[in-house]
Amino acid sequence: MSDTLIIDKNLSRKELYQNLLPQINSLIDASEPLISNLSNVSAALKEAFDKISWVGFYLLKDQKLFLGPFQGKTACTVIELGKGVCGSAAFQKKTIIVENVDKFPGHIACDGGSKSEIVVPLIKDNLVSGVLDLDSYELSSFDMTDQFYLEKLCSTLTSRLNFDKAQSIISI
Ligand code: SME
Repeated sequence: MSDTLIIDKNLSRKELYQNLLPQINSLIDASEPLISNLSNVSAALKEAFDKISWVGFYLLKDQKLFLGPFQGKTACTVIELGKGVCGSAAFQKKTIIVENVDKFPGHIACDGGSKSEIVVPLIKDNLVSGVLDLDSYELSSFDMTDQFYLEKLCSTLTSRLNFDKAQSIISI
């Protein structure tokens, strides 16, 4: 299924999320493949927020994060657990906001233009199945408002979609 999103760019960031999340919720169709659903989720986020230079998913398989559906420039295909912002967020099972990527030790620069980033782990029943990663060409693009709504979104995704073979993280 596909729908046109209604996005009012004059809204505050909080209002935009409050408007967007129900629309994403109705875009999701659990009877369709995970890849189709996550593709539309990344497209919806990219369309809604001009500040996003790259948005997408990395999915956990064999204790590594592999590139999943995304919008933006080509990106690194594999990230080790504990490495970079994505690997750290997955390993620590917590959201990481990076105001300035140059100050994050071990940041993986898939796109040299990226300046700030937020990574939210996809967790259900304490099992990590991947991460949602958003990048921006501006410094300090993401804050607690993004964290709050993106965590809400990720929790909807893990409860409604079948992330088959979600794996617990055992070791790095
Ligand atoms: N910067 C990320 C790598 C993924 S790209 O930004 C798409 C990281 O440090 O994990």
